[in-house]
Amino acid sequence: MSSFPVHNRHRRDFLRTALGGALIAVAPVPRGIAATTGKHQLLEARPAQAALLGPPDQLTEIWGYGGKVPGPELRVRQGESLKLRVSNKLPQATSVHWHGLRIANEMDGVAGLTQAPIQPGEFFDYELTPPDAGTYWYHPHHQSAEQLARGLYGALIVEEHEPPPVDRELLLILDDWKLDDHGQLNIASFGNMHDASHAGRMGNWPTVNGVHSPSYPVQAGERLRLRLINSANSRIFRIDIEKHTPSLIALDGQPVRPRSLPAEGLWLAPGQRADLILDLSGKPGEQAALRTYLREGAYTMANFSYDSEQRRRDSPLDAQIALPANPLPSRLELGGAHKAALLMQGGAMGSLRSARHQGQELTMRELVQQGMVWAFNGEAGLPKVPLLSVKRGQAVVVDIVNDNRWPHAMHLHGHHFRVLARDGQSVDEPDWRDTLLMGRGEQVQIGFVADNPGKWVLHCHMLEHQAAGMVTWIEVS
Ligand code: C2O
Ligand code: CU
Repeated sequence: MSSFPVHNRHRRDFLRTALGGALIAVAPVPRGIAATTGKHQLLEARPAQAALLGPPDQLTEIWGYGGKVPGPELRVRQGESLKLRVSNKLPQATSVHWHGLRIANEMDGVAGLTQAPIQPGEFFDYELTPPDAGTYWYHPHHQSAEQLARGLYGALIVEEHEPPPVDRELLLILDDWKLDDHGQLNIASFGNMHDASHAGRMGNWPTVNGVHSPSYPVQAGERLRLRLINSANSRIFRIDIEKHTPSLIALDGQPVRPRSLPAEGLWLAPGQRADLILDLSGKPGEQAALRTYLREGAYTMANFSYDSEQRRRDSPLDAQIALPANPLPSRLELGGAHKAALLMQGGAMGSLRSARHQGQELTMRELVQQGMVWAFNGEAGLPKVPLLSVKRGQAVVVDIVNDNRWPHAMHLHGHHFRVLARDGQSVDEPDWRDTLLMGRGEQVQIGFVADNPGKWVLHCHMLEHQAAGMVTWIEVS
């Protein structure tokens, strides 16, 4: 992973914060939306400015939902419906995808597959009834690489009917921005084929909830539920919390058997989410860093700053919290499963020499001229024919081979899946995922029941890889 080179201009501010000089109390992400139109809440995508550099530096021009980054935190009770009117005030067409929700296909927001793009000045009404509680998020699914990099994303929280007993929740959306020397978005790098053929577009300015190096006030003795979302275009964060041992209770929105984080930290690929229980076991006045790991070592993304009080509790904290199950089977019945194979090819230092693109076989040089450098099963970009076409209720097993030199974050829409085997060995991984991090050369076998009718994309969530060819789809009838 590459580092976060901090601009010279900001190094002094950066050091001041790093040395603990200025404690910035961070406003929580705005909840809900004030404006409503009839029964629909209004979600407006528009150009805006954000204090990414932090005061007193100048503002950065961004695009945001409701003019903010992150956009408003949307909340709905499990099984209830959310109606949103997405109004496009951008100079570009857009759409909104509700990442991880197993909802009706016509609401999935994939421009060119499930709906026409929303043109500038127009709107589209979405109605979502999420079956699963958990931590989800929303973002464009049209020119996604550019539109997410500009700041279009937000959290979508589906509340359990009986939420776990915590003192409070804290949402942490991790991003990395690529800024120029003036603190503005590095626009020239959009569509850069070097980034696309390597690890994707890496930023140089990390933020949590749109703030660089924020500090979150906490109290000793508190129990928090953290909801982590990786909204970065391509950066994989490896996360831990200094001096603390949080427990992992959900991945990609779905409850998991509660467990401690891996010793090396929690890998969070683009698009992935994790829910943690964090017991504030430190002492009043202490600080603890939320860290990610770069090649050079630990890097502080944010701090938890203990205030001077100890929270008084009537009873000690319970050992472990587990979330109630979502309506997914505890056993995956794979008898008579439909089998498919997916070969992931291309990229720098790869062996791909040619691939089909829009019906033509093109050499690598010709592909690059079309902005393509990756292929699935010899085809670059969304194919006409789906990877697989099955009847509703059919069990499906897909063998995925990452035959290239780069890690990828494979995301399937409309379904969660399980990993059945890794590198040919069957594994017992009961976690349901919607986005899976695959290492270079890795082979995995995933399984799921195709129980949601419609056309669903399967793509790499490293958005430059998706834009440069890593996308296919499945059809459930
Ligand atoms: Cu989070 Cu197809 O996207
Ligand atoms: Cu990828």
